[in-house]
Amino acid sequence: MDSIVVKGGGALSGQIPIAGAKNACLTLMPACLLSDQPLTLTNAPRLSDIRTMTELLRSLGAEVTSLQEGKVLAMSCHGAINTRAEYDIVRKMRASNLVLGPLLAREGHAQVSLPGGCAIGARPMDIHTDSLALMGAQIDLRDGYLHAKADGGKLKGAVIDFPFASVGATENIMMAATLAKDTTVINNAAREPEIVDLAECLRAMGAQIDGDGTSRIEIQGVDSLHGATHRVVTDRIELGTYMLAPAICGGEVELLGGRINLLAAFCEKLDAAGIDVTETESGLKVARRNGNIHAVNVTTEPFPGFPTDLQAQMMALLCTAEGTSVLEEKIFENRFMHAPELIRMGADIDVHGGMATVTGVKKLKGAPVMATDLRASVSLILAAMAAEGETKVSRVYHLDRGYEHVVAKLRGVGANIERIKDQ
Ligand code: EPZ
Repeated sequence: MDSIVVKGGGALSGQIPIAGAKNACLTLMPACLLSDQPLTLTNAPRLSDIRTMTELLRSLGAEVTSLQEGKVLAMSCHGAINTRAEYDIVRKMRASNLVLGPLLAREGHAQVSLPGGCAIGARPMDIHTDSLALMGAQIDLRDGYLHAKADGGKLKGAVIDFPFASVGATENIMMAATLAKDTTVINNAAREPEIVDLAECLRAMGAQIDGDGTSRIEIQGVDSLHGATHRVVTDRIELGTYMLAPAICGGEVELLGGRINLLAAFCEKLDAAGIDVTETESGLKVARRNGNIHAVNVTTEPFPGFPTDLQAQMMALLCTAEGTSVLEEKIFENRFMHAPELIRMGADIDVHGGMATVTGVKKLKGAPVMATDLRASVSLILAAMAAEGETKVSRVYHLDRGYEHVVAKLRGVGANIERIKDQ
């Protein structure tokens, strides 16, 4: 396994290019199952999660060709489709469950393994399965697999009220509904930019979808979809993560491809903490306003609220803010695993249930720490960049799931960071 060694240093300066969104790409790729014509994605991120989704789609009979060093994915599902998503692939990545809707829409049946445990929470699929049942699917759980079958081989439109604005369930149902009979309405749909990106891709394939980006999405089923070429939207979570680098270390960094509208709630919190964010021709420029970071309170919510995927990174900033901040995690039940690792670096954090109280300290101190999940791992790197001394972050395979070339991108703006092979 690899580790990343960071020596705390001074101010940063330069530019960081932001890649295509992992969480958009992971739902755009299964959309290729909805047509027998080619779907090509450009601006795809080079990540291990994308390689896992590629492996899964190939196991289902899709042809997936990676071009331009992985930035272009050419996919085609014109042959026979295998409708069984095997546990040994699905267990590596929960987003594998996003093949359920497309397989049901295309073939009328599917057997998709339940993903199993996840570090940040139970992450059940009841909203996905209850919604598909309203669309006429019979779904049974047997041997750890969801066995799904559409009545009469074809899903039918329904009005579906989500109990929670689930991102994955919105994506699965939107894809399933594109080929269903009649019209499907999703009330309390997720509004994330990745949902809008998927809708734009599906419309390019001939789907009839309105209301994406709002809480009410309407999909008029069509007989078939054709191929398309679609550019993956910028990754707002990678963007927010790297915006925190100059915020934590000082200096000024420009994030290429960044736009404020992807992260308005997050930018409001940065402003309150004393960070200036300026839109430029090519992206976002980020710098501290006058040297001090102020404590702010954060509550994670579905978009357009503060993203749960930036909670751990924001906590790293608040560890050295002036004053006490309260972070409330309302999306996942166990998403503070970075707190004990930050405490090893001298942070003053009190966690009770879904609330973390952070009292700023002058400086963090480097220490050996362990990555526990994707976003926790990068929050430790950010904290280490401004800490006194050296930090070694182990189990960095978590990072490779969601951040391409993280060492090169941070070295490019002056961080003292390197990746080493553990003996
Ligand atoms: C997506 O996960 C993202 N993953 C997550 O990013 C992100 O944290 C999450 O949305 C919230 O924004 C991808 O897009 C691949 P949800 P998803 O369904 O779809 C509960 C990262 O770091 N729920 O909106 O799984 C669930 O348990 C990852 O990139 C049900 O109870 O999120 C959770 O508490 C982590 N029943 C909450 O809703 C269901 O049927 C949010 O889940 C579905 C979800």
